[in-house]
Amino acid sequence: MSKTAILEFDGKKYELPVIVGSENEAAIDIEKLRALTGAITLDPGYKNSGSCKSDITFLDGEEGILRYRGYSIEDLADKADFLEVAYLVIFGELPTKAELAQFETDIRKYTLVNEEMKNIIDGFPKTAHPMGVLSALTSALTAFNPKVVNVENDKEMYEAVCKTMGKFLVIATWTYRKMMGYPLNYYDNTKGYVENFMHLMFELPTGPYKASPVVVDALDKLFILHADHEQNCSTSTVRIVGSSHAGLFASISAGVSALWGPLHGGANQAVLEMLEAIQKDGGDAAKYMAKAKDKDDPFRLMGFGHRVYKNFDPRARIIKKAADEVLATLGVDDPILNIAKQLEEAALVDEYFVSRKLYPNVDFYSGIIYRALGIPTDMFTVMFAIGRLPGWIAQWKEMRINKEPIGRPRQIYTGHPLRDFVAMDKR
Ligand code: SDX
Repeated sequence: MSKTAILEFDGKKYELPVIVGSENEAAIDIEKLRALTGAITLDPGYKNSGSCKSDITFLDGEEGILRYRGYSIEDLADKADFLEVAYLVIFGELPTKAELAQFETDIRKYTLVNEEMKNIIDGFPKTAHPMGVLSALTSALTAFNPKVVNVENDKEMYEAVCKTMGKFLVIATWTYRKMMGYPLNYYDNTKGYVENFMHLMFELPTGPYKASPVVVDALDKLFILHADHEQNCSTSTVRIVGSSHAGLFASISAGVSALWGPLHGGANQAVLEMLEAIQKDGGDAAKYMAKAKDKDDPFRLMGFGHRVYKNFDPRARIIKKAADEVLATLGVDDPILNIAKQLEEAALVDEYFVSRKLYPNVDFYSGIIYRALGIPTDMFTVMFAIGRLPGWIAQWKEMRINKEPIGRPRQIYTGHPLRDFVAMDKR
C-alpha cells in the first residue's frame, strides 16, 4: 500500500500522507490540503470522506462484515446479551461477570426520571410521533441533569453512561405509554434491562405482566444488532453536535432526530407501512418491484439498499432467521412476512437491484419481528434508538476523549457575486 498519494493541481505536485487502518483501509490525509493548494474536496453525503479514526466498529460493505471492538456480530448476537454488548461497545472490552453485574446495578441507580418530566410529556398530543417526543424528552434530561461531564474523569464518564442507559430506556417507553393514554411505568430493579423494556411498555395497573422469554431473547438480539454502525447518519450527528462540547443528552437528542428519517432508522416503520400497503393492494409484489424501478415513480423499496453494504447486510441475515424462529415459536402466521420474502426473492434476481447492489438491510425484517412482539409500528424507530444508544454514547465518548476538533465542513459557493443594494422603490 502506498504511503503517500500524489496530487497534481494547477501545475504543481503535492504529496499527501496515506493513513492505513488496522483492517488495511486506506485514507488520503487531506488535513493540510487547503493550506497547501487553496482547494478543498467536495463530497455530498460524505460517501468518500472519513470524518474520524475510530476503534469501535469495523464494517466491510463489500464483504458484509460487521464487528464491534473486533468481535463478529454473529458471535455477539449468538453468545452475548445486550448489556454485555453495550459495555463492550462503550468501554472497549467484554465485561467480566462481576463487571457486568456491577454495570447492571449501577444503571439501576439512575432509572428514576424526575417527576417534573411528566409535565413535559403531558404537553404533547397523543398523536405526536414517539420519535419527536423521545428527542424532546432526551434533550429535557439536560435540564434535570445539568452537570457537565468531565470526560477525562473515568468515574464521572461511567456515571454519565449508566445515567443515560437507565433514563433513556424509561423515557423511550413513556412515548408509547403517552400514545396509548396509559400511566407511565417505572423501572423494576428485580428485572433485567431488556425484560424491563417489556415491563415498562406493557405492564398495566390492572395486573402483573410477564414477558415471554422468547420475546425478551429476540429483543435482546435485535438491540445487539443495532448497537453501533460506525459513522452512519445519526451517529455522525451525535459526533458533530458533541464536537461543539454540547452535552451527552443534547447530542443524543440530535441523534434521535436524525434516526427518525425514513431513509435511515425510520425505514423500519416505512417497510411495514409499505408491506401493509402491498397487502391491502392485493399482495402483488411484482407491481411494487416495477414501481421501485420506475425512475418517474418516487416509490422506493424500503428496507433495500444501503450507503455502505453493497452485499447482504449481515444483520439482515440474522434478523431474517430470528423472524422465522420468533413467528414460529409465537405461532404467528403473518402474511406480511410472506410478502417480504416474495420481494426479497424477486429483488435478489432482478437486474435493476443486482446491478445497483441493492440488498435487504437491517430494517427490512426487524419490523416484522417487532409487529409479532406486539410493538406498534410508530414505535419501531424508537426500538432502533434503544438499540443504537450504546453506539451513540461510545462514539460521543471517543470523539471527546480524542479531543476531535469542532465539526465545521467547508463549501463551494455558487451564488451571486457581489452586487449593489436595490432600494425598495426600485425592486
Ligand atoms: C439504515 O448508514 C448506515 O449504517 C445506516 C444503518 C445503520 O445501522 O445506522 O445501516 C441503518 O439507515 C439502513 C438503510 C435504511 N433505509 C432504507 O431502507 C430506505 C431505502 N433505501 C434507500 O433510500 C437507499 O438505498 C439508501 C438511502 C439506504 C442508500 O442510498 P445511496 O447509497 O445513497 O444510494 P443512491 O440513493 O445513490 O441509489 C443508488 C441507485 C439509484 O438508482 P440510479 O440513480 O443509479 O438509477 O439505487 C437506487 C437509486 O434510485 N436505489 C433504490 C433503492 N435504494 C437505492 N431503488 C429502489 N429502492 C431502493 N430502496
